[in-house]
Amino acid sequence: MSQESQYILTVDDLVRSIGRGRDEVVSAFSKDELTKLPGGKWGLTSEVAKRYLSGKGVQYEFKVIAYINLKGGTGKTTSTISVATRAVQYGYKTCILDMDAQANSTLAFDEVPDEEDPIFCDVWRNPKEMVMGSIRSINDGLYILPSSLENSLLDVNLSNPGSQKKAVYGVCEVIKDNGFDLIMIDCPPSLGTAVISAICAADIIVIPVCCDDFSLTGLDFTLIEIESICDTFNLKKPDIHILLTQFDKRLNISTNAIEKISSRYPGYLVPFPIRTSSLYSKMLEKKKTVFALTAKCRAKTDYDRYVRFLLKPGGIFENGGADG
Ligand SMILES: Nc1ncnc2c1ncn2[C@@H]1O[C@H](COP(=O)(O)OP(=O)(O)OP(=O)(O)O)[C@@H](O)[C@H]1O
Ligand SMILES: [Mg+2]
Repeated sequence: MSQESQYILTVDDLVRSIGRGRDEVVSAFSKDELTKLPGGKWGLTSEVAKRYLSGKGVQYEFKVIAYINLKGGTGKTTSTISVATRAVQYGYKTCILDMDAQANSTLAFDEVPDEEDPIFCDVWRNPKEMVMGSIRSINDGLYILPSSLENSLLDVNLSNPGSQKKAVYGVCEVIKDNGFDLIMIDCPPSLGTAVISAICAADIIVIPVCCDDFSLTGLDFTLIEIESICDTFNLKKPDIHILLTQFDKRLNISTNAIEKISSRYPGYLVPFPIRTSSLYSKMLEKKKTVFALTAKCRAKTDYDRYVRFLLKPGGIFENGGADG
């Protein structure tokens, strides 16, 4: 496999993403601001990227983004960790909130908590005092509130609807007040209290969907549930993105899925799917995401394009290239 870095944005990636000339971009940085990467490439830490991009009009507007699908295995965790690591490279201070008792996001970064370490089910009642002590630093700009099997107790501990409305929201407010730009919530594939509470806190809900018929049925069910939770709790409806994952344009099933979703839910379907790539699982084995790779690849290109669509950073990205 090609060269890897710990989520340092390569200068080459930045050049592609903003569609500017390499010399122009490089000349904007002092020697101290450039980080040498394996393989002779140059990169920018999250902080340096933020300083540069802020100066070029990029907005770092706080957002809570929840990845939800009541069906399992559709790409919620892959999307959470891929989007989070790219956002960090673009300078967003990002916290992953792992709400799934399977703890796949937690495992993906090798941040398994010890028995005495607080997780969501320990901190939601007392967020101001406890949340920041439960967050672990993965990398420059990247943090996680990890999960473990104990979070399955939430279905018992968080049974009161008033608490469900406030639990994830309260935790997110504390994280926001501590200078974060983004929270990414990885949800379990079920309609438990963790998911209900995440819906109540989300500005944007991303529904990753595979292209098969079971997944499309799962999509219908998920959208009905989101609607009913918004009605029950009298919430402003979050923006909804349906993100096709594991897409293969050579298969009819994939192109049919685009037709079905865009006719059933016009306006929700993200206009570019995430294509199938074995790199997601290969990188997971190394406890990393595809954005640790410094070379160009289609797995990075697809999620990069989606990150810019999702975060709408504005500024210099407005006329940026279509490639990451
Ligand atoms: N675009 C893709 N191309 C190829 N494999 C993918 C892609 N997206 C996800 N996968 C693989 O599909 C499997 C399920 O993905 P993931 O764990 O992200 O789904 P999930 O919705 O979080 O599952 P769960 O509901 O169990 O939490 C993983 O093995 C992952 O590596
Ligand atoms: Mg998952």
